Amino acid sequence: MIIIKLSKLTWLLLLFSSYHLASFDYYSCEANQIDYLNKLIRSRRFRNRAPDHPAELDNEYDQPGQEYYGHFSPVYVGNHKGLKKADKIKSLPGQPQGVDFDQYSGYVTVDPKAGRALFYYFVESPQDSCSKPLMLWLNGGPGCSSFGYGAMQELGPFRVKSNGNRLYLNEFSWNKVANIIFLESPAGVGFSYTNTSSDLYDFGDDRTAVDSYTFLVNWLERFPEYKTRDFFITGESYAGHYVPQLAYTILSWNKKPNQPVINLKGIAIGNAWIDDVTGQQGMYDFFWTHALNSDETNAGINKYCDFVEYSNPCIRYLNQGDEEIGTIDTYNIYAPLCNSSRSKSGSTGSVNEFDPCSDNYVRTYMNRKNVQKALHAKPTRWSSCGAVGWTDSPTTILPIIEELIGDGISIWVYSGDIDARVPVTSSRYAINTLKLPVVNPWRPWYYNNLVGGYVVEYEGLTLTTIRGAGHLVPSYQPERALAMISSFLQGKLPPPS
Ligand SMILES: *[C@@H]1O[C@H](CO)[C@@H](O)[C@H](O)[C@H]1NC(C)=O
Ligand SMILES: *[C@@H]1O[C@H](CO)[C@@H](O)[C@H](O)[C@H]1NC(C)=O
Repeated sequence: MIIIKLSKLTWLLLLFSSYHLASFDYYSCEANQIDYLNKLIRSRRFRNRAPDHPAELDNEYDQPGQEYYGHFSPVYVGNHKGLKKADKIKSLPGQPQGVDFDQYSGYVTVDPKAGRALFYYFVESPQDSCSKPLMLWLNGGPGCSSFGYGAMQELGPFRVKSNGNRLYLNEFSWNKVANIIFLESPAGVGFSYTNTSSDLYDFGDDRTAVDSYTFLVNWLERFPEYKTRDFFITGESYAGHYVPQLAYTILSWNKKPNQPVINLKGIAIGNAWIDDVTGQQGMYDFFWTHALNSDETNAGINKYCDFVEYSNPCIRYLNQGDEEIGTIDTYNIYAPLCNSSRSKSGSTGSVNEFDPCSDNYVRTYMNRKNVQKALHAKPTRWSSCGAVGWTDSPTTILPIIEELIGDGISIWVYSGDIDARVPVTSSRYAINTLKLPVVNPWRPWYYNNLVGGYVVEYEGLTLTTIRGAGHLVPSYQPERALAMISSFLQGKLPPPS
């Protein structure tokens, strides 16, 4: 069994490095998912690549409880009697007429000793929710809210109008095809919290996976009708770490005696950060091939950068490359920027035209007292990204993905093809290192008689693009995104015509 061992080596590196993951500070109200991943990626340049290859074996992932509880024990399971009913949302302030699905939200305690509780928002499917699969959605960062992004700006049933107090319906919400849990993870993000403040300096991939797993086991106690339902995990950006790690944790724990079996069928990760080396390389190649960088810069990067060790000339060229781009939204290179002094107050909003100031509307909405009350949230100064230190983060997730391929679950990597931050080139380079045989060669897929993107099926993994989408795929191409995820859930490739 191939397992990545991260913490100890990473800790060592952190001790000897003045620029490290834990050095980026949070709590800026304006910081968003974009800034967070940027900081993480840049911080990587200042430390050598951690030798966290599969050669370093450990069974930490086998026993996620071990590290935090001192010895192996089943995960904590609380008493959930009556809590589902208490979590039912009567209606969200400002929600439109015609809401024909059930909504729930509340806290699930994942560590009673530390007083850590994760906040979730759950929307059922309007039709036949009993026969539709269960899906968990995770945003990245690390440290950004799946509720504020995923639910309210991307794939959820509502979007927030520019006045920050009314909602409108997203007719292409993914709850048309699945019952969806949006989890704010880890504690410190969104409404999720811990009563042990030192926890906030000790988050990382390991604990995020353990806490998310504990959350799931408990959530299924609260909603027992979903215990045997087909289950899928989806997410984007830095969730390229979270999703495979959680899937791995679930599959390991499924094999243990006296643990509930979670019926995990597959994962889908969008514009996912899964490997530092190919991630960086693909990003700068995308800059050049999309006319954002000069030939000279590209030549310098190719000459001096291997993206493993960062020499001074390499860093100089990378900085030059970053500067040449100018002020654009690298997460959708063709999108308008938010100019908040010009945002159309009172505009009704349209799902088909993503408003670049949406972050602001969501922040206003989430901080309304009546909204927090309706959500059963503790009074909180909510921000879209939070948490504090990030201790462990392997430089590659590919060995875990290989493990998951071996386990036979469905694995989709999807990519909005105008995102320059975790671009399709990065995903392709990463997947290419796995040298998987092609089962169904690259071809276009169609939606409404137009090419919706391209798809190639490898043995054990499918790569699909969504044409004209940025980093937040369902925000920019809601119809195509829904078509893509429907195919994924049905276990079919997106339509060939
Ligand atoms: C955190 O502390 C508050 C105040 O003591 C308490 O009401 C709450 O239940 C605690 N949370 C958890 C998850 O234990
Ligand atoms: C934002 O909009 C205002 C009002 O239209 C305008 O005066 C200002 O120049 C704009 N700022 C930017 C950076 O475009």
